Amino acid sequence: MKKNLKRIIAVSLVTISMFAFSACGSKKKSSLENIKEKKELVLGTSADFPPYEFHKSVNGKDEILGADIEIAKQVAKDLGVKLTIKDMKFDGLLASLDQGKVDMVISGMTPTEERKKNVDFSDIYYKSVQTIVVKKSDKDKFKGIKDFDGKKIGVQKGSIQEGIAEKQLPKAKPVALSKISDLVLALNSGRIDGAIIEFPVATSYTNSNKDLVISDIKVTTEEAGSAVAMKKGSEDLVKEVNKTLDKLKKDKLIDKYITEASKLVEQ
Ligand code: ARG
Repeated sequence: MKKNLKRIIAVSLVTISMFAFSACGSKKKSSLENIKEKKELVLGTSADFPPYEFHKSVNGKDEILGADIEIAKQVAKDLGVKLTIKDMKFDGLLASLDQGKVDMVISGMTPTEERKKNVDFSDIYYKSVQTIVVKKSDKDKFKGIKDFDGKKIGVQKGSIQEGIAEKQLPKAKPVALSKISDLVLALNSGRIDGAIIEFPVATSYTNSNKDLVISDIKVTTEEAGSAVAMKKGSEDLVKEVNKTLDKLKKDKLIDKYITEASKLVEQ
């Protein structure tokens, strides 16, 4: 009897530990472990957003530069891995994150409640306000929100500006395009009458397009912050990214990245 009991206990112990081991073995790697193991951080961004991220030819070679890219470089450096940048449409970024095609999204992205349901966000690293860009020759026609009644207002597909247009300019006709550069083209050709674009980006585009200006219309007083997006359930990675951001904020480097990148856009 005693012997039997011992055997049962022994067998159960072996079985339990086997289960425990196999559970360990099949445990899904965390986002951070995954990045460290492949020694690579794949960044998803929509490089149509100067000074955050934009294309520029450097010594005849096309490169993606900007404040967000500098942040990504710091994160990769702090994690001790190499950085790979994937440029894609803004409205496809979060799906790519979910499908594991990219490890992280830095793209001037605002951490909205809606997005938080599907992805994790870092702390906010930069804040800005909304503007409406119009043709210089139209500036006097568009002085208030009401002047957009029945007019075409451009926004980037998948951006918070879509919702802002709907709420703040309910009588305007929204036109959603994939890239901010498409909005700028549409403005120049008169296909749209205005475009809702965040201040630093609007400044970059109006500086390089002399026919466009930032109108005096106040869209919303709410500030839109930018944060780093990561796959849902990336607690360990979020922590590391926040550490890097804290360091950058403490040294006032993010403002510096924005200023420096703004200068680069115009060169
Ligand atoms: N902040 C806005 C949003 O999160 C616009 C961001 C657009 N970013 C870009 N790289 N085009 O929806």
